Amino acid sequence: MTDLAQGAPAAAVDPAVLRDVAEGLSRPQKELSPRFFYDERGSRLFEEITQLPEYYLTRTERALLQRWMPEWVGGLAPRALVELGAGSAEKTRIVLDAIAAVSRSAVYVPVDVSAEFLDETAERIRAAYPTIDVIPVVADMTAPFALPERLPGPTLHAFLGSTIGNFAPEPAVALLRRVRERMGETDRFLMGVDLRKDPARLEAAYDDAAGVTAEFNRNMLRVLNAIAGADFDVDAWTHRAFYNRQAHWIEMHLVSSRDQSVSIPGAGVFHFAAGESIRTEISAKHDRASVEAMFAAAGLGTERWMTDDDGLYAITLAAPR
Ligand code: TRP
Repeated sequence: MTDLAQGAPAAAVDPAVLRDVAEGLSRPQKELSPRFFYDERGSRLFEEITQLPEYYLTRTERALLQRWMPEWVGGLAPRALVELGAGSAEKTRIVLDAIAAVSRSAVYVPVDVSAEFLDETAERIRAAYPTIDVIPVVADMTAPFALPERLPGPTLHAFLGSTIGNFAPEPAVALLRRVRERMGETDRFLMGVDLRKDPARLEAAYDDAAGVTAEFNRNMLRVLNAIAGADFDVDAWTHRAFYNRQAHWIEMHLVSSRDQSVSIPGAGVFHFAAGESIRTEISAKHDRASVEAMFAAAGLGTERWMTDDDGLYAITLAAPR
């Protein structure tokens, strides 16, 4: 495990990142980028979140993939799978199983920001799938990035875990458009998305009784202490998650429990009043119409749409149009 001692920067931070931090903390509603959730501890806490009783997303998506991938992938017989935000690729195995059943050989391209995580994932997948060639790509999907050239077609592009919801409307469409631009006529796009529902149920999923999501949220402050030598007093911040009914998204905040100043070398000194918050994440919730509106804006059209019996979550397959 990484040592997250306060005030001890592990390495020089990219000045562009510090500018982003300063800019986010200077807005009327202070903000920090969700990228700071994910050090090793953060990734472990996130894995824990996916197993919480309140967090129905992961298990519901998994059941949907198990139910539909043989049919959806069987019809397509993809020779390549490109996965945005692959993470541990646990659910991807269901897609890979379906591909391995219909294609004699295939290429899997997991894309993730975390190089460490990605290497482990690549090794595990290589060991489990001898007919699949794994070519990991370390990239931040929020910006354009290069894929290996001449992937065999058809290619299935996958974006699971309702990660689309972690993008505001315009960046979400921009990301889908970049995917669309890579797609040939026979390629398809597979996406998992969390659906609008009773706000109490949504709020519980992001504020679990065991406090794992709270710890995950606060971990961002530890990460900033570790990587940027910031002096956040982690215990002086509490977790808040609520459903914004106008925007149809969950907002996660860190609330300052007292008047305090925080110094982030290279970014500045920031003052927080008691009760003032930093927004750390949004998780937009969709319905079929809102997904189809995003797809249309990106040049995609829905071919398949399936939800679980309770209508909590959807998986969808889209084609270029
Ligand atoms: N995309 C998933 C979601 O919005 C996973 C996720 C991303 C998440 N950031 C999070 C879950 C922060 C909990 C807290 O649910």
